[in-house]
Amino acid sequence: MIEFNSSFLEAFKGNKPNRIPVWFMRQAGRYQPEYREIRKSYSLVEICKNPRICADVTLLPVKQLDADAAILFSDIMIPLIQMNIDFEIKEGIGPVIANPFATTNDLDSVHEIESFEKIEFVGEATRILKSELTVPLIGFCGAPFTLASYIIEGGPSKNYYKTKAMMYNQPFLWESLMKRLAISMGRYLRYQLENGASAIQIFDSWVGSLSVSDYKTYIYPYMQLLFEELQSFDVPKILFGVNCNHLLRLQKESGANGIGLDWRGNFKEARQLLGLEITLQGNLDPALLLADWHIIEKQIDRILEEKQDHRFIFNLGHGIMPQASIDTLRKISDYVHSKSN
Ligand code: CP3
Repeated sequence: MIEFNSSFLEAFKGNKPNRIPVWFMRQAGRYQPEYREIRKSYSLVEICKNPRICADVTLLPVKQLDADAAILFSDIMIPLIQMNIDFEIKEGIGPVIANPFATTNDLDSVHEIESFEKIEFVGEATRILKSELTVPLIGFCGAPFTLASYIIEGGPSKNYYKTKAMMYNQPFLWESLMKRLAISMGRYLRYQLENGASAIQIFDSWVGSLSVSDYKTYIYPYMQLLFEELQSFDVPKILFGVNCNHLLRLQKESGANGIGLDWRGNFKEARQLLGLEITLQGNLDPALLLADWHIIEKQIDRILEEKQDHRFIFNLGHGIMPQASIDTLRKISDYVHSKSN
């Protein structure tokens, strides 16, 4: 019998793991020939809606990369189906919303998640994975700000002007939307945990565009609300955002017990700022996946030197891009594992 590999979970207890845990954000995706092949027959959303294919896509990189955790294959937009928000995921662009959220009328059609009948495929895929995986499964969701940015802008954005305009000028609309998103995502994560996920990660990818003071006023209360929904679950709760080094302390205080750093951050400084209790995850620059091996090796050595303790999970500073190669990623995983003693 194959033993359950708990090195990822050990990183939250502060114990020395059997080996340094490694996984990669976007470890399932277009860099894999097998994924590209599946995408010829199924759209991204179709993969998510088919529990068997979803489970297979989730499992594939765990084997290929010898990863110490799996992340459910899905997208941050999927739970919006249950909230009655229509979207499409366009290749090379990302999520697109036909009717962006703009007025009090739009509020009537945004439903708080109270049941899961439109997204039961998530629970089913999670249960399949629970029975087939020998590493922990990470469930995930998008954080309220990052989701609101797509819902309000109608698609990807550089400056989030519409989102911020609503945040500043229409407090009732902003508060109502953020509250609905926070409670819904809290329940959605609970649903994943109840169906077999061992940990959760919240992606607040774009919140780094806000100042510390605006984060405190407009975001923090909703992050607290989201984490309150998870209070009874003693599991890893990782919060990740790009360009968030100025927000780390507030991110921790909102309720996370793990923080994902992007490649700009430094583990020594983060440890000093956040204390000994929190688990830190990251943070190789994904751009390095295209660098020569001796450069990658040096940068991994630097990260492992900066990390200082066992509350550490090796990852990238953001997701794997389509140009990356499986060989390089596997070499990274093997190299980090080889440095475990
Ligand atoms: O990490 C994993 O293996 C799990 C799968 C996963 C996907 N999306 C699948 C996906 C996860 C964790 C996400 C989260 C997600 N989705 C985030 C937060 C994480 C981050 O990267 O910051 C965001 C902002 C989204 C929204 C989204 N969906 C974007 C920006 C894109 C990329 C658009 C593109 O084509 O480059 C998507 C599409 C998407 N979601 C892909 C994958 C594998 C691209 C591949 C495809 O279209 O098949």
